[in-house]
Amino acid sequence: MSRGAVRAGTVALDQSAFGALWGMFMDITAGETFGITTKRQVLAQIVVCNGCCCGRTDKGKPAIPVDWLKQTWKERRLQKHVQLTISGCLGPCDIVNVVSLVTSEGQRWFGGIKDAEPFRSLVEWAQATAELGEAPELPAELLQYEFRRFV
Ligand code: FES
Repeated sequence: MSRGAVRAGTVALDQSAFGALWGMFMDITAGETFGITTKRQVLAQIVVCNGCCCGRTDKGKPAIPVDWLKQTWKERRLQKHVQLTISGCLGPCDIVNVVSLVTSEGQRWFGGIKDAEPFRSLVEWAQATAELGEAPELPAELLQYEFRRFV
């Protein structure tokens, strides 16, 4: 039997053939959920890092208004529309005060936030998202903190 031939129910594929097949699979399955659903769908999720560096004023880092964010989210009943998640380390600690924003359009990253104003902008954006039923443009005050997370 020659190399690459069918052998005991398997097919040996070279890397380019595998890549082509994988691409076809991804095209076919794009947007598929394989039957898995959640009753807790939201318009967006905001993940605010509160890990080993972000918000650690005891390490000389700028504060993050975590309690204010939680309280405001609760008072405005935003959680059903835009989920707020306070997380452990998200990775890019060198930037500090990192926020990740996830929508159906993808994931965006913000960092180097040194005061409360960008967090107020996030709250207003979340409120607008809840009222509109879709995510509006991000405010300019927030965009100045956007960075590229992945290579
Ligand atoms: S602690 Fe926030 S990115 Fe690491």
